[in-house]
Amino acid sequence: EVSARLKRDFSRGLGKHSHHKAPVKMLPTFVRATPDGTEKGDFLALDLGGTNFRVLHVRVVEEQQKVLKMDSQICAIPQDMMLGTGEQLFDHIAACLSDFLVSQDLKGQTLPLGFTFSFPCEQKEIDKSILIRWTKGFNCSGVEGKDVVKLLKEAIHRRGDYDIGSVAMVNDTVGTMMSCGYRDQSCEIGMIIGTGTNACYMEEMKNVKRVEGEDGRMCINTEWGGFGDDGSLKDIQTEFDRVVDKMSINTGVHTFEKMISGMYLGEIVRLVLVKLTEDKLLFKGQSSEALKTPGRFETKFISEIEEQDNGLENAQNILTKLGLKWELVDSRVVRLVCDTISSRSARLCAAALATIANRIRVNRGLDHLKTTVGVDGTVYRKHPNFSDELKATVRLLAPECDITFLVSEDGSGKGAAMVTAVAQRLALQGHL
Ligand code: GLC
Repeated sequence: EVSARLKRDFSRGLGKHSHHKAPVKMLPTFVRATPDGTEKGDFLALDLGGTNFRVLHVRVVEEQQKVLKMDSQICAIPQDMMLGTGEQLFDHIAACLSDFLVSQDLKGQTLPLGFTFSFPCEQKEIDKSILIRWTKGFNCSGVEGKDVVKLLKEAIHRRGDYDIGSVAMVNDTVGTMMSCGYRDQSCEIGMIIGTGTNACYMEEMKNVKRVEGEDGRMCINTEWGGFGDDGSLKDIQTEFDRVVDKMSINTGVHTFEKMISGMYLGEIVRLVLVKLTEDKLLFKGQSSEALKTPGRFETKFISEIEEQDNGLENAQNILTKLGLKWELVDSRVVRLVCDTISSRSARLCAAALATIANRIRVNRGLDHLKTTVGVDGTVYRKHPNFSDELKATVRLLAPECDITFLVSEDGSGKGAAMVTAVAQRLALQGHL
């Protein structure tokens, strides 16, 4: 049922006249090809929107058929900056890049830059990308509705101590698909299940009504996190989902994401535990200050509690740290709650992924599709059974699709370089 609803929303998002109001945005990315293995060059990459902000120097070497990541540096973005002004944020990014160029001895060069910016953007070209809205923990003023490339370039010019070459804007899903695409050329889907959740895939140009041209394919950033924002998932949202939404900094936005991704899973579990305690079904009805405090039950606890061998012991240690008095049965119930919430997340993701796989299969008029998904994100990587549950559910919902899952090796960094490299290759081939 969820997959059928999303299928309908994919069509709405792609339609020329229906996309304005569509909850699932289906954004054209101007990425028209996946890597063919001949890409090469030297690139800078920025990665904003996941757990950390990073600056990278990537060298793509053709001969060895692999990408070499030369170096990278993490720059912290303090919480108040995530909620401050856009100018502060971009000045900070430009400053981090400057420090990195100095440390790499690259300041005199003008390298092309891939910018992995993991938020919904209306892309006009590969280097013109307008932020539709902030998601996850960000909410900087004066950026929504603006071209992010322009804001970055202005911040660099304000400093005046270095310059960059051409810029390619990349969503993290696209970076993930492209970095896996270098290893496996049948990789045509990218999926993230981390702080947020989203996926992209290669769509037939004739279905991308908002971009001129009928031939070939273009990568579409689905922004499936927004699924349900028109109320279409109301019947499966729980009272806990509604509280998570209400307490978030973007109420009413990214409904599907709030049921799935790492930023919210821990909080959903906490709310269920609070309710069970109030109903005297846990801890003899005795709560603790920590359990009552939003954010104190971290998403990583879920992975620890669901560990095969030490899960129960981990649960007990966590409950003690949260100031709770538990008995064996309490720790078992807590484990069951974690399993319920993480399984729901994995199955919802699977329903969405099955929708994409089935769509690609039908697009190509195939009875059977063999394809690869590049995946990244802390929830997918770190949770002990998430990926198994997701795969089993996809097999059930898309039986005609044979899907290989490839965990991306640093998709946000290498993928951004790869998008820039493919764009250069296509431009070059166009000139020949
Ligand atoms: C959020 C963003 C989306 C990103 C995803 C995963 O859903 O809106 O652009 O891909 O998080 O990081």
